[in-house]
Amino acid sequence: MLQITIKIRTMINPVKKKRENYSLRGAVQINRSSFFVFSDNSGRTFLKRGRDEKLQKSIVQNMIDLNPKIKGLLKKYKIKPSINTKTLNELADGHMNETCKVAMGVYNSLPESLKCEITENIIKEASMLHDLGKVLIPAKILNKPARLNIKEREIMNIHSTLGYELLKTQRINEETLELVKYHHQNLKHTGYPEMEENIYPSDIGVQIISISDKYSALKEARVYRRKLPRIEALLILYKEVREGKIHPEIYNALINFVKNTEL
Ligand SMILES: [Fe+2]
Ligand SMILES: [Fe+2]
Repeated sequence: MLQITIKIRTMINPVKKKRENYSLRGAVQINRSSFFVFSDNSGRTFLKRGRDEKLQKSIVQNMIDLNPKIKGLLKKYKIKPSINTKTLNELADGHMNETCKVAMGVYNSLPESLKCEITENIIKEASMLHDLGKVLIPAKILNKPARLNIKEREIMNIHSTLGYELLKTQRINEETLELVKYHHQNLKHTGYPEMEENIYPSDIGVQIISISDKYSALKEARVYRRKLPRIEALLILYKEVREGKIHPEIYNALINFVKNTEL
């Protein structure tokens, strides 16, 4: 069972390699102990590594066992069930952590009229967990140093649904779950997965997570491209504003945030 709790513990921070206080952000409990996502004093988040690889695998396996839909999806897309904790740790240390920092910055730069539509904690939690589903995507697809073919793209695109299904059986807030599921959606609803009828995740939340995810991804190097300077990343996102996929207020909040930071 997954609990979102804040506990201060003194342990070795695997990133900074020194002892300090840090908080447990999302915890999966199996046999009354174990944990998942951490953040340190400066807000940096990461998963516990090393000797806990086995533990992480058992945590994810438990999530799979709790939800038969996951096995169904893996079968449908002919994905061999395997839990890629290396990817998960890299994402938590890098991309999901960066996305969280940007998302918090965007949230805090929003006008009050938009900010009141979503809570800071939901944005924090959803950005930290948004790509969790990639733990089940084969590494050869995730790390392919070339354009994905149609079949591979289809498989890659189910990571947001897989993340949602993995977390659904845990004690995660419904709004957070929807943001994980729809973090590749946009204002025109032309992203993925398709919005189900009668489900309307907060567009503001989706917009914040989505713009932060894209901005962070563009600023990171990928096996198939160099990392982009911020101006290029912002120009690519501006194109989406003009296409009606990104709300101009959200884009303005991103600009106002990055003006005053190194990100
Ligand atoms: Fe994603
Ligand atoms: Fe992402």
